[in-house]
Amino acid sequence: MPTDRQHWLDAATAAARVAADFIAHEARTHRHITWEAKSATDFVSHVDLGAEQRIRDVLLTRLPDLRIVGEELSNDADPESGLVAIVDPLDGTTNFLHGFPNYGVSICIALDGVPMAGVVHDVARGGVCTATAGGGAFVDGEPIRVSANADPARALIGTGFPFRDVSYADRYLAMMKRIMPVTAGMRRAGSAALDLSDVARGRFEAFWELWLNPWDLAAGVLLVREAGGRVTDLDGNPARLIGGPIVASNDVLHDWFLDILNDR
Ligand code: IPD
Ligand code: CA
Ligand code: CA
Repeated sequence: MPTDRQHWLDAATAAARVAADFIAHEARTHRHITWEAKSATDFVSHVDLGAEQRIRDVLLTRLPDLRIVGEELSNDADPESGLVAIVDPLDGTTNFLHGFPNYGVSICIALDGVPMAGVVHDVARGGVCTATAGGGAFVDGEPIRVSANADPARALIGTGFPFRDVSYADRYLAMMKRIMPVTAGMRRAGSAALDLSDVARGRFEAFWELWLNPWDLAAGVLLVREAGGRVTDLDGNPARLIGGPIVASNDVLHDWFLDILNDR
C-alpha cells in the first residue's frame, strides 16, 4: 500500500508525463506556434492551456478531492490551504515559443502550505526530477544531491531577470554586478522550475530571482530541500508557496549568497 506522499507523487508524475508528451508533440508538429501576450513580456499559447487541461484531467481522476492552483486556468486559489496541486503546465513558455530547448512541466502537491510531492519534467532535454517530503530527490529514479562545492569562485549561479517589472532592474543589476566578478559564471536559462531542479542536481551552486509565482517554485523548492539544499527569501526565511523573492543554494554557500545579494 503506497503512502499518501507516494500516491500523490505517482499522480503528479503521471499528469506531468501526459502534459510533457502533449508539449513535445506540439513542438514537433507545429513549426510556428501562435501565441497571445498576457503582458508585453508574458505569453500564452494553446499549448500552455492544453497542457494544463490535461494535467487537471489526470489529477482529478486520481485525486478527486484535490484543489488545483494552475497558472493558466485557476491561478487565484490559495496555494497554502488544504490539499492542493500547484501547477505550471509549461515553465519556460518564451523558450518553447522560440524553439529554445529549455522548458518543462512543474507540479507540486502540498498540504497546508507544506510541499509533499513534486515533479519537474524537463520536456526538451528529458529527465524527470521527483521528490517527496522526507523521501529524498531523484532524477529518472536515481538519487540526486546538491553540489558539495563551498568555493564561490567555482560556483555557477542561475538567475531569472525581473522582466515583468523593470522597476526592480537597478536593484537586480547591482546584485549581478557584485556576483559576476567573484563566481565562475551566471546563467539565465528561462525556466525557474528547471533552474531549481538544476540546483538540486548540483549543476548550479545557487539560484535567485526577485519574484516568482507559486507555480514556478513549488515543486523546485521541494527538490532542492530533499537534495540537501536550502531555499529562502532574501532575508533567509524559509521559502513559502505563496511566491515572492527566492534564493536557493547547495546550503554551504547560502549565507555567503544572502550576504552578497544584500550587499553585506
Ligand atoms: C517564467 C520562467 C522564467 C522566470 C519567470 C517565470 P513561464 O515562467 O520560469 O524563467 O524568469 O519569472 O514567470 O511564464 O515561462 O511559465
Ligand atoms: Ca512559470
Ligand atoms: Ca507557465
